[in-house]
Amino acid sequence: MLEDFRKHIRLKDNSAILVRPLSSRDEKCLLSFFSQIPDHEKWFLRDETANPEALSSWVTRLNYDKIFPLVAINESDNSIVANIQLHRPEAECLRHIGHIRIMVHPDYRRKSLGPLMMQNLVQIAMNLGVEKLAAELVTEVQEAAIKAATRLDFKEQARLKGYVKGRDGEYHDLIIMVKTLQDDWDDF
Ligand SMILES: CC(C)(COP(=O)(O)OP(=O)(O)OC[C@H]1O[C@@H](n2cnc3c(N)ncnc32)[C@H](O)[C@@H]1OP(=O)(O)O)[C@@H](O)C(=O)NCCC(=O)NCCS
Repeated sequence: MLEDFRKHIRLKDNSAILVRPLSSRDEKCLLSFFSQIPDHEKWFLRDETANPEALSSWVTRLNYDKIFPLVAINESDNSIVANIQLHRPEAECLRHIGHIRIMVHPDYRRKSLGPLMMQNLVQIAMNLGVEKLAAELVTEVQEAAIKAATRLDFKEQARLKGYVKGRDGEYHDLIIMVKTLQDDWDDF
């Protein structure tokens, strides 16, 4: 069962982290987590996480079939320190595709937490029968995510040049990186 997923991990700095699905009881912690993300990063979010009201409404009506969210909890204070989501299209012709969105708290970056969350979601997606995982990433802005995705064997499959506009008026490319899952059974 998806809701039973639990994984205990240790970061490079030795902090103890529990990775588990987000539940509606996490509303306050999740709002607090996103309130600590800098505005210049929120600018590039393209879903309900950018807006506290939409975020509250989403978290109280979670539907794991549509969006399956995992959170990383710092076990010393029970705060949320990372969130990753698997978005699954409802259309039959796209049901084999999953889209990944990830956010790690700025204080917890560069400790391999993002890649660990991604690995867990890849494993869950494979168990759900997802065949391809896609991530839409903004060049120059989300280079850390592009690096982490490349390390997990995501490949650039499309590039929309100058598609995304920053707060400063600068345009950035949107790249779609895709990972094919069925080749990866031996990795786990
Ligand atoms: C992307 C993200 C999840 C990575 O998480 P993380 O836990 O910090 O991942 P890592 O520990 O592997 O560190 C990121 C790597 O990117 C590198 N990096 C950071 N900024 C970079 C940049 N501007 N250009 C290239 N590489 C960069 C880091 O050096 C590190 O590599 P290293 O291990 O060789 O030092 C995190 O940076 C994040 O939440 N970013 C904001 C949200 C986002 O961009 N989401 C993607 C949209 S779906």
